[in-house]
Amino acid sequence: MTIDDVPLKSTGTSAERTYLATNSTTRDRERSVIETMDDSSPLGRELAREAKRREKLAGKALPRPKSTRIMTVSNQKGGVGKTTTTVNIAAALAGAGLQVLVIDIDPQGNASTALNIDHHAEIASIYDVLIDDVPLSEVVAPCPDVANLICAPATIHLAGAEIELVSLVAREQRLRRAIEAYARTRETRGEPRLDFVLIDCPPSLGLLTVNAFVAAKEVLIPIQSEYYALEGLSQLLKNIEMIQKHLNAELIVSTILLTMYDGRTNLAAQVAAEVREHFPDQVLKAVIPRSVRISEAPSYQQTVMTYDPSSSGALSYQEAAVEITSRS
Ligand SMILES: Nc1ncnc2c1ncn2[C@@H]1O[C@H](COP(=O)(O)OP(=O)(O)OP(=O)(O)O)[C@@H](O)[C@H]1O
Ligand SMILES: [Mg+2]
Repeated sequence: MTIDDVPLKSTGTSAERTYLATNSTTRDRERSVIETMDDSSPLGRELAREAKRREKLAGKALPRPKSTRIMTVSNQKGGVGKTTTTVNIAAALAGAGLQVLVIDIDPQGNASTALNIDHHAEIASIYDVLIDDVPLSEVVAPCPDVANLICAPATIHLAGAEIELVSLVAREQRLRRAIEAYARTRETRGEPRLDFVLIDCPPSLGLLTVNAFVAAKEVLIPIQSEYYALEGLSQLLKNIEMIQKHLNAELIVSTILLTMYDGRTNLAAQVAAEVREHFPDQVLKAVIPRSVRISEAPSYQQTVMTYDPSSSGALSYQEAAVEITSRS
């Protein structure tokens, strides 16, 4: 199913669907600007295309998954957009009313920063969950800028966790058990069931990433639309196969997202074509453009969804979120 096939009106009951947050003032302003623009100019055409995409998303219903979807956002290549994808997809889903938990298991703590969650050394964090069996319910914190979005932060202590985990019992299962226990706690407390859990992984294939693979049912792989994009991907897929064989038979690579796409270069188009050829069922139709607004947002402790909701980057992440929910 592609974004074009997603029905504008959900057929579910109101309890089963929520609606994408859309900015009608922006849309009205944009419409009036576009009406006065000459659409034979490249900028006019681009704006018209964006306005059409925004119209398509306006008030779009997002279905609640039948059960909690646990996705790990992984790629051992550094700087490909894992964290940016995790926090922005999470914000897009939560902005539409879905209940979302982000788990930051990267010692860099970038997802915690982008979601404006305290993660200095004294804060109880995912380190305490993994190493000292502290319940997730005691470390999650609400994202101050996005309703329905909570985050288990990472602190600097997590840097030592790879080594500390080695000698612990059930070292690969610790995150999975913590998430299961947290789901039970929410139920007991009468809190709503989580719709999505997104795990932001470090750029390595160590025990932290293995914990994420064991906890998740799905892998979301962001791929940077650049020359070395596919390098290392076979290693990642081999590792996932090993996990499927020995630790988590349910795990699938459900989603691949092309990030930092520069539409002006032939290279980006070639990379995209190659990735789509290899993974026709996994690659989302939505692609994330290279965008200054996306890269600026974290320095204001924000996602682009709140920093500049009318930007093309925010629009693209919303489209990706719609596609992800339509594939459950
Ligand atoms: N679409 C984009 N346009 C422009 N800059 C981007 C985009 N996506 C991510 N960036 C920037 O690229 C850098 C790397 O992105 P990000 O931190 O999301 O990657 P990562 O895979 O999580 O990195 P790491 O492997 O270090 O965890 C960041 O500075 C981020 O702001
Ligand atoms: Mg990261």
